[in-house]
Amino acid sequence: MNIAVVGSGYVGLVTGVCLAHIGHDVICVDIDEAKIKTLKQAKVPIYEPGLEDLLKKYLKNKRLRFTTSIKEATKESTAIFIAVGTPSKKNGEADLTYVENVAREIAVTMDSYKLIIEKSTVPADTGRRIERTIRLNLKNKIKQEKKGDREFDVASNPEFLREGSAVHDFMNPDRVVIGVESKKAEKILREIYKPLKPKMVVTNIKSAELIKHASNSFLATKISFINAIAQICDHIGGDVLKVAEGMGYDKRIGRAFLNAGVGYGGSCFPKDVDAFIRLSEKSGYNFRLLKEVRNVNEEQKSSFIRLIEDKLWIVKNKVIGVLGLAFKADTDDMRNAPSIDIIQALQAEGAKIRAYDPQAVNNAKKVLEDIIYCKDPYELAKDCDCLLILTEWDEFKDIDFTKIKKSMKQDIIFDGRNLYSDNRLGDIGFEYHGIGRGQV
Ligand code: UDX
Repeated sequence: MNIAVVGSGYVGLVTGVCLAHIGHDVICVDIDEAKIKTLKQAKVPIYEPGLEDLLKKYLKNKRLRFTTSIKEATKESTAIFIAVGTPSKKNGEADLTYVENVAREIAVTMDSYKLIIEKSTVPADTGRRIERTIRLNLKNKIKQEKKGDREFDVASNPEFLREGSAVHDFMNPDRVVIGVESKKAEKILREIYKPLKPKMVVTNIKSAELIKHASNSFLATKISFINAIAQICDHIGGDVLKVAEGMGYDKRIGRAFLNAGVGYGGSCFPKDVDAFIRLSEKSGYNFRLLKEVRNVNEEQKSSFIRLIEDKLWIVKNKVIGVLGLAFKADTDDMRNAPSIDIIQALQAEGAKIRAYDPQAVNNAKKVLEDIIYCKDPYELAKDCDCLLILTEWDEFKDIDFTKIKKSMKQDIIFDGRNLYSDNRLGDIGFEYHGIGRGQV
């Protein structure tokens, strides 16, 4: 099928490349000329395992193309995915300016039936507004095959891609959710995803939109729940890892997303939780539960900072080495990374920060100041009073801590991801503090 994907950011790019991979002819659009130029040269501007190889392959056999022109993409496609950014406004609401602009531009160009599919995470009711925008801006007469045929359809098809495993997630979806209001739209979307043979959830547009917000909010709730349990463990002496294990074997609960840590970050959870709270408020429901999820997440960072203050005693002029800056492993993304708040709070108290991250340093430089970046964990550890583990990179598991210990000033480790939960650091003489491991 001829498909357009408007917006070549994280979601749009992964979607476009993977749609080509499953056999479609895809044209990806972005207004950022520099980005499109880079993509045409088969270079991926983000770090996402597996993406660049696929991009190269499908650019070469021309199943994937890039353009800055929505007009060109609209003309050539039956299905158009909208995957532009929906940043947060000051009040937490999603800013849908880009979505509206794209809808308008599609409307003035289209001259035959199109299925317009929302892929960006948007508040419930956006589908209806897109439909209205298109109808108001339709310039050309659309030829209808049969009398009564619709000129176009709007559908919702939320994404559930995790950064770092987005290609895998696309190719192996737990489910594909489609929100449609016509048989034709359903047929097209089923055909698009047919090669993946996924479990399909077919519903109306509003429910599909809600599924996305509800899913991300539920996962954020799970994380805040286990972080709250971690606090209790630290107060009364339990071990959150064992509690999570014991809970996780219950099929109704599941072990995933029960990893206590320094709080969730990234481009989705914080923004989507805010947007869902705001949407609920506007609809007349006070989503108190979700507000508390957000509070617990903020507290998780402040209690980690308090722990450091308590153990270091005086933070001023102490040298703190930070292992991991990205909001999670396998990404270079710094958006809402817990490391930002934690580092800035410690800097405000006069700490000197050294840092190492395998991928995120370039992005970190855009948001953090006065940091000495190091080429590896061994250089990082030199003269440090303590180390903080803020991202659970796999390569950190193989660090030679006996070597590290020799170059540090004090032997204290604050493990914000419980990466070294087996007490091996304690065994080689470190003062080790994990999250929720029962240290009163
Ligand atoms: C998320 C959703 O998982 C995905 O379905 C959606 O489409 C986009 O948002 P992503 O932001 O890439 O994906 O990361 P995810 O793996 O979900 O982690 C989000 C944050 O939660 C990270 O900061 C991570 O470190 C944290 N997290 C996750 C925990 O603190 N504990 C956990 O158990 C799991």
